[in-house]
Amino acid sequence: MIYADYNGSAPVCNDVKEYLKQRLDEGPYANPNAIHFMGQKVLMGMDNARSVCAKFLGAKFSQVIFNSGATEGCSQIHHSVLGCGAKDEKNLIVTTGIEHSAIRKTAEWYAENRGYEIITIPTNPNGIIDLTEFEKVIKDKHQNIALVSIMAANNETGVIEPFKEVSKLCQEYGVTNFCDTTQYIGKMPFNFNETGMDYAIMSGHKIGALTGTGILLAKDKTTLKPLIIGGGQEKGLRGGTQNYIGNETLAVAMDSVSKFFDRIPELTKKREEFEQKVKEKYPSAVILGEGAPRLATSTYIALPGVHGQAVQIELESMGIFVTTSSACSDNEPVTSKVLKAMGVTDDVGRGVVRISVGLCSPVEVYDKIYEALIKAYDKLSQIKSY
Ligand SMILES: Cc1ncc(COP(=O)(O)O)c(C=O)c1O
Repeated sequence: MIYADYNGSAPVCNDVKEYLKQRLDEGPYANPNAIHFMGQKVLMGMDNARSVCAKFLGAKFSQVIFNSGATEGCSQIHHSVLGCGAKDEKNLIVTTGIEHSAIRKTAEWYAENRGYEIITIPTNPNGIIDLTEFEKVIKDKHQNIALVSIMAANNETGVIEPFKEVSKLCQEYGVTNFCDTTQYIGKMPFNFNETGMDYAIMSGHKIGALTGTGILLAKDKTTLKPLIIGGGQEKGLRGGTQNYIGNETLAVAMDSVSKFFDRIPELTKKREEFEQKVKEKYPSAVILGEGAPRLATSTYIALPGVHGQAVQIELESMGIFVTTSSACSDNEPVTSKVLKAMGVTDDVGRGVVRISVGLCSPVEVYDKIYEALIKAYDKLSQIKSY
């Protein structure tokens, strides 16, 4: 079996499994907010995890807020920055057409319900946002921008966006900047305070920690309002007894993943060889985001005329799990919003499959995926499915 949907959710990593076995066996268990010895011991463990996470993320201890994951973090940021509703002088949200729906839909909710207007920065055909256009927008309209929300790495294409430049421009013009770093963190080294961004988010299940865990990073915590009020946990910013064991797994997973960063060049090379081999065999195959800087572990590939879902099912029958990342109904396959924003035609958009492995994956998985993919294409291209 080959699991190649790490961008969807990574398996719990081995170090976390080992940690949990011992942790669950030995305890301690208590409410980290209790003042008795056991509670304080749990709190110390969780705060130790917070220190490890802060170091890994290039943030200060006090900038790390534990939560349930990226979607919650995104909601809290929007609630904090936009919750009061559009003011005459600050009524714009600047975002892109390639954001994850958790981010895009939140922005749309604030536009529909709180009077904001969305400016969508266009995306180039290679998946990179149009930085020149962004620069123009920020120069012309910075006084009216309430929030810039541009992601670090795309979940479908794996394309790495110029988020450092975006952040620099936001700082220069004094505009609040939220970056969706969910796919970037754990796949590339990241330093929150070096980028200068105001807010970032991540989900534990994308990096091998337990699902239902995550972190919101805030440059200045006093700008945040709680989404969940509760009993004042996380310094009043996220109510509810903390998921302390889950939060500990974040630290273990971050420690674990940092050991694999030096594999990025090797994985990138192998990924490129894999893509070239497929293109040699099938010259009409398309690699989405080809030529743009991409995460080492992601490939988004289409063979026009061969339906992505059919490829997915064929691969699954050979024990390989990938996704299409495009919503499809029986005869009306739909090109994803991300691909539409890149100007990708339905001919390509209907054919995509996303192959995403982990930084810990052996390079040989690409050889096995290649064999299976070619078998699937050989079989399916005999019948043109659309
Ligand atoms: C880029 C990006 N942002 C946000 C999210 C939302 O993450 P979660 O569902 O863990 O809250 C995802 C999940 O796939 C993602 O890929």
